[in-house]
Amino acid sequence: MKMTTIKEILSDTSVPSLVSESTTETNRNSTTNPLSIIWEIIIFYVLSTWYIIEAIYRLFVPVTEKSVKGEIVLITGTGHGIGRQLAFQYASQGAIVVCWDINEKTNQDTVKIIQEFGHTKAYAYVCDVSKRENVMEVARKVQAEVGDVTILINNAGIMPSHPFLDHTTEEIESIININVMAHFWTLQAFLPKMIEKNHGHIVSLSSCAGLIGLRNLVAYCASKHAVRGMMDALNRDLRVNPKNRIKITIIYPYMVDTGLCIRPQIRFPSLMPMQKEEEVAQQIISAQRRDVFEVSIPRHYLSFFYYLKLHPDKIGNLMNDILQSYTDSDL
Ligand SMILES: NC(=O)c1ccc[n+]([C@@H]2O[C@H](COP(=O)([O-])OP(=O)(O)OC[C@H]3O[C@@H](n4cnc5c(N)ncnc54)[C@H](O)[C@@H]3O)[C@@H](O)[C@H]2O)c1
Repeated sequence: MKMTTIKEILSDTSVPSLVSESTTETNRNSTTNPLSIIWEIIIFYVLSTWYIIEAIYRLFVPVTEKSVKGEIVLITGTGHGIGRQLAFQYASQGAIVVCWDINEKTNQDTVKIIQEFGHTKAYAYVCDVSKRENVMEVARKVQAEVGDVTILINNAGIMPSHPFLDHTTEEIESIININVMAHFWTLQAFLPKMIEKNHGHIVSLSSCAGLIGLRNLVAYCASKHAVRGMMDALNRDLRVNPKNRIKITIIYPYMVDTGLCIRPQIRFPSLMPMQKEEEVAQQIISAQRRDVFEVSIPRHYLSFFYYLKLHPDKIGNLMNDILQSYTDSDL
């Protein structure tokens, strides 16, 4: 009987499982060979140097944005805010836009506006993304009526803001169900087809609250850190296939002027201004089209947070005391 090699397994895009035991076994075997380890270290240094040079070069000459014309883009939370802007902008760039929101009226309005601008390929579906059954059911409808989703944007989210002990149990569950579990359900619904075709892009809305802890946002921060970890890990899973062409982009916006953040407090608004939803959507699409793995909005915040993490916690606290940028309790 002919044995299938690991390479064959990995290059077979019809394999639904992302990580096979045999793959991890191969990695383990290769680490026991000293010559192989030395070779891997040399390759590591050569490639690291190359990647640093490439990153510096890309600061001046950005990657060309790929086209989204004809792509089927499904965006959750399109009835308002960033999601609505994303739907407008993707439609204007020639994508087929599938709009999901729990609010039928505002979602229909989004699609109506898109169609008034002459972009006929926009579709509205009512879906509560926190409910797995609902996600699966509406996903089946989308596949039958529109086609295979090639760009998935997990955007819908809520942000109740108050001290942890003032959160009700139901509220904590809603935050986790909408901001995190929904990402699992949409991935279960749409990732298999992307893997089968080896084509797709998943964009997840985390937040600066997914990079650091913020007062009044214990549950929200937990949800946004979870999104970050989930997508980081999924990216590793996908990399197991050396021929993988499915991309991941994680977005960390600072406060955006959509009304989600009910009582924003910013001590230095000229230094850290609220972001405009149109510009945020534009930057999200640009990051997706350039295959950027993670980006904060504004862009330099990500480097700033990573830089701060290199220092003792007390310095982070001091910086927090000086900047005083947070959301006040909405109670
Ligand atoms: N606005 C900000 O300051 C900010 C900052 C960082 C990150 N974000 C993230 O960006 C994303 C979008 O935020 P926004 O400011 O545009 O929010 P928004 O409140 O303006 O819009 C959110 C949309 O999601 C929909 N929605 C809520 N629950 C849903 C559910 N269960 N199923 C389907 N749809 C549902 C709402 O009806 C609404 O149309 C969120 O994930 C948010 O956490 C926002």
